[in-house]
Amino acid sequence: MTARPRRPRVLLSVATSVDGYIDTAGPERLLLSGEEDFDRVDAERAGCDAILVGAGTLRRDDPRLLVRSAERRAARLAAGLPEHPAKVVLTTSGDLDPAARFFTTGPAECLVYCPGRAVPGAAARLEDAATVVDAGDPLDPVRVLADLAGRGVRRLMVEGGGGMHTLFLTAGLVDEIQLVVAPFFVGDPDAPRFVGPGTFPHGPGNRMTPVETRLVGDCVLIRWLTRPPAHTGDHV
Ligand SMILES: NC(=O)c1ccc[n+]([C@@H]2O[C@H](COP(=O)([O-])OP(=O)(O)OC[C@H]3O[C@@H](n4cnc5c(N)ncnc54)[C@H](OP(=O)(O)O)[C@@H]3O)[C@@H](O)[C@H]2O)c1
Repeated sequence: MTARPRRPRVLLSVATSVDGYIDTAGPERLLLSGEEDFDRVDAERAGCDAILVGAGTLRRDDPRLLVRSAERRAARLAAGLPEHPAKVVLTTSGDLDPAARFFTTGPAECLVYCPGRAVPGAAARLEDAATVVDAGDPLDPVRVLADLAGRGVRRLMVEGGGGMHTLFLTAGLVDEIQLVVAPFFVGDPDAPRFVGPGTFPHGPGNRMTPVETRLVGDCVLIRWLTRPPAHTGDHV
């Protein structure tokens, strides 16, 4: 008998400044990397079954989270996959705008995870724009991943922001980190950082495994595995 699937493989993707910031505190959205990295991220998206962001990112950036390349979309369809990965957002309040591009662009399935108490309000607000799922109270990332696995998600990309990075990393639910470092400083303590405070499984005494470093345009990509490469773990 094969083991029951418990969670997808989780890839965390982030771009930071040299000093670890992921945005500015001002009104303008900060572009950290460039076209070459956007294309690299597009390829990673195309290889995933779902892409997850937090409600903060949805409100601030309103990302479309679609596969841009027509060739990659065609390859997905040829492989019997949906044209785009599913879009996933985590919210505690359930206060999301159904007119956001996240919900209105592309044919991708939209899933909203929130605590049970926020489900009725979110479902009423979003109507047909998304499927709203009870993720426990407080919202439990393990439950989110188990639900996604049950929906056939084998590979999940967590694309931010800092709240989501912190949540999944401190819970020990990330298998791979793709960190792109842009060649400048932000230097504003009010700007959002890659992660907030927390207890991370990979402290100084438990180092991760680097598997790649590469120049991508004028940025540097570093890939780490959080477990030894041979680990098959509890993924779908
Ligand atoms: N450089 C990059 O790679 C990158 C990528 C993505 C985003 N960003 C930046 O990240 C910033 C947004 O980050 P953020 O931390 O404010 O928002 P976030 O991580 O996108 O979302 C945080 C929200 O998620 C919900 N949530 C549910 N459970 C949570 C939990 N246990 N812990 C924390 N949040 C939980 C809450 O939604 P409710 O408020 O609805 O309760 C919370 O406000 C923006 O500036 C964006 O531009 C940068």
